[in-house]
Amino acid sequence: MCGIIGYIGERNCIPILISGLKRLEYRGYDSAGIGVLSDAESVIVKKPGKVSSLEEKVELLNLSSNVGIGHTRWATHGLPNEINAHPHSNQNGTISLIHNGIIENYQTLKKGLQKLGYNFISETDSEVLPHLIDNFISRGHSLLKSVRLALSEVEGTYGIAVIYSGEPDKIVVARKGSPLIIGIGSDENFVASDVSAILAHTKQVVYLEDNEIAEVFRDHFNAKTISDDEIEKEVHEISMSLEEIDKGGYPHFMLKEIMEQPESVRNSMRGRILLEEGNVKLGGLAEVADRLAKSKRIIISACGTSWHAGLVGEYMIEQYAKIPTEVEYASEFRYRNPIINPDDSVFFISQSGETADTLAALKEAKNNGALALGICNVVGSSIARESIAGVYTHAGPEIGVASTKAFTSQLVVLALITLLISRKRGMSLEEGKKIAEELNSIPEKINLILSKNDEIKNIAEKYCNVKNFLYLGRGYNFPVALEGALKLKEISYIHAEGYPAAEMKHGPIALIDDNMPVVFIAPKDSIYDKVISNIEEVRARGGNIIAIVTEKDENMNRLVDHSIKIPDTIPMLMPILASIPLQLLAYHIAVKKGLNVDQPRNLAKSVTVE
Ligand code: M6R
Repeated sequence: MCGIIGYIGERNCIPILISGLKRLEYRGYDSAGIGVLSDAESVIVKKPGKVSSLEEKVELLNLSSNVGIGHTRWATHGLPNEINAHPHSNQNGTISLIHNGIIENYQTLKKGLQKLGYNFISETDSEVLPHLIDNFISRGHSLLKSVRLALSEVEGTYGIAVIYSGEPDKIVVARKGSPLIIGIGSDENFVASDVSAILAHTKQVVYLEDNEIAEVFRDHFNAKTISDDEIEKEVHEISMSLEEIDKGGYPHFMLKEIMEQPESVRNSMRGRILLEEGNVKLGGLAEVADRLAKSKRIIISACGTSWHAGLVGEYMIEQYAKIPTEVEYASEFRYRNPIINPDDSVFFISQSGETADTLAALKEAKNNGALALGICNVVGSSIARESIAGVYTHAGPEIGVASTKAFTSQLVVLALITLLISRKRGMSLEEGKKIAEELNSIPEKINLILSKNDEIKNIAEKYCNVKNFLYLGRGYNFPVALEGALKLKEISYIHAEGYPAAEMKHGPIALIDDNMPVVFIAPKDSIYDKVISNIEEVRARGGNIIAIVTEKDENMNRLVDHSIKIPDTIPMLMPILASIPLQLLAYHIAVKKGLNVDQPRNLAKSVTVE
């Protein structure tokens, strides 16, 4: 959450900071600010709301500078107003600092600083940092050493960037639990929380690790650990292009990302399926595949949409690999002292690879000796780097806050992993081939679903004024119901709940009347008849029914108000197809309501705080 950008070089940093902030806005968007050094004087400009409001304010000031930092905020402590926006400053305004993360002991630090005469003006935890640094600078230390000493007193997480008018030739950055990269240019350098902010300028990046700090100058940088040990950092080349993170003519990133799914799932499979062998090749798991296949138990841990993908993974692994599998919210897993054995394998699924709870759960599993594996979309992200081994989903950059293509790619990767383990545990060549062939046919089937966009839009428009929605599915499609409900509530602000269809009569049925739309995921599978009984129960109580059904299901039309037909596939892959009409349904309802689908209120793309 929150976004950081910084620049030092020959050019005027203002347009670089503003365009970087616009790219980062999907990470947090309740206020924004920049801090620059102009003629060795610190200038800070902040504004609540969108980056465009900050841009207007900055333009009026006619500023120019060769070194500066910028921040877009997702509020944790204090309202999203101008005072609480970053950068924060010390009393005489010589230091400007931006911070992602949470300072857990800020109250204690604040009291100590207040006793020394420091005045605080914001409600944020972050404001302790410039005062703490100031306190060390005033004792004669350099900026770098002062930041280091200040951070050694801090409990919590941070990604920070600091500039100081007393040392105007550098930006100091540090990281613990919140991503920070240095972008290497020619006679100029960048800092950012996310490559998208600097991709227009450079593809050469250095990832700071936890407890590392760096001084970034115009033409070089020096990195150390917080405890002052010298370190060598490797420069990585980013393969992502700028076009990949643009809207490509679509009105919203979310729609673009939904429409990209034939290609994104193809990319998740590319070079990995061995059709003739009915098997897969996953380079990232090669060294651990045997140990993984011998696991006594598999645990999958994640948050939000990635957790829903994990639930589908549980069904897949238990059905085919026959390994007991549990799925757990990362936020629960990390704090409840879970029993983890050395012969357990634990998968951590995360689009961003930066989700704080998932990252902490991963560290917990590793400490307990489990085989900790990552399934991430963002290459080089913290979870990807902390994992012992793993698989990238390769869905491409996902900018819309509501996860769509990342979800279907996670499902594809989980299917690939299931195939890999199951073949090692005795699945026949014939069955392996069947799954591999079905996977191969998924992109074309997604195309067919996407061609129904207008049909789904028409249905959506009928329901944009309702207050509640229920989503029901069974077996593999129960997690699809949860995911459909999450998609709707996060972007349309309509209350929606997902249930296993049979659970409806244990409570939710009381809610059903003619104002309650109920979405059934009802493909023709082994439990189809049971779902039909659940549909009848809703019909008998006047509920409006939207059903996701498989082609050739002519029976359903007489039972439901709207049916959306999707191609058939094997049950384990049905969630990939069935989730797509639900993404479109949520999208069109939110658009019809005039809402900002890419940046829904109160949410952020990457949840890097607890
Ligand atoms: O980046 P991650 O996959 O770890 O993110 C997990 C959740 O925060 C995320 O899936 C969230 O639920 C999305 N907004 C759902 O659309």
